Amino acid sequence: MSTTSSRIAELRKSYERAELSEEASNADPLQQFDRWLTEAISAEVPEPNAMTLATVGSDLRPSTRVILIKGYDERGIVWYTNYESRKGQELAGNPYAALQFHWVELERVVRIEGRVEKTSAAESDAYFATRPLDSRIGAWASPQSQVIPSRTVLVTNAARYGAQFMLNPPRPPHWGGYRLVPDQWQFWQGRKSRLHDRLRYTLRNGEWVRERLAP
Ligand SMILES: Cc1cc2nc3c(=O)[nH]c(=O)nc-3n(C[C@H](O)[C@H](O)[C@H](O)COP(=O)(O)O)c2cc1C
Repeated sequence: MSTTSSRIAELRKSYERAELSEEASNADPLQQFDRWLTEAISAEVPEPNAMTLATVGSDLRPSTRVILIKGYDERGIVWYTNYESRKGQELAGNPYAALQFHWVELERVVRIEGRVEKTSAAESDAYFATRPLDSRIGAWASPQSQVIPSRTVLVTNAARYGAQFMLNPPRPPHWGGYRLVPDQWQFWQGRKSRLHDRLRYTLRNGEWVRERLAP
């Protein structure tokens, strides 16, 4: 095994950049998220819009992957993908999922949990139309999460669908958006001596209840 393996336990960092207090945080978790995402973008952290999505299969095994947030408002958090992918199949069987942002440079994490629904066809169509042409062709060319014999399949598919649809590929029926409707949010700010700040917002009787969790 490499020296990395023997030294990995010694890698440590003290988190001292900022704090998150009950007084300074917003009573509405969506507003708090909007503030932190805006700060992540302003700080030019790499891929501030990347989040991890966790789903659970019918065999009760969890799985995760990174995706991009494409919209957020009072209704929830939106991303786009292939409905027949592993995540799509898992969401069809169990609509509960979790999202996580980790903005390393800001020593911040946001965790969001809730129920997932598909966006409307009109909403998916509108977003699909804004994608670059090669991405729109790619949505047709890639049977996401399926085993393929070689990379050649993708290149051949892309050429075939490119020739078929030219400049106007329609949205594939197997591609579109999902919206996670949050019932729980958690904001984590790294602090000194592992005494981190954690504020959890839980939806109870239509109201967001904010509580501090031990780190
Ligand atoms: C930074 C980043 C952003 C990604 N964004 C998306 C996305 O928005 N939608 C998507 O379907 N896959 C996205 N992917 C690919 C996924 O991580 C994953 O490989 C793919 O969705 C298949 O996952 P599944 O087999 O678990 O369904 C992204 C990957 C990275 C590294």
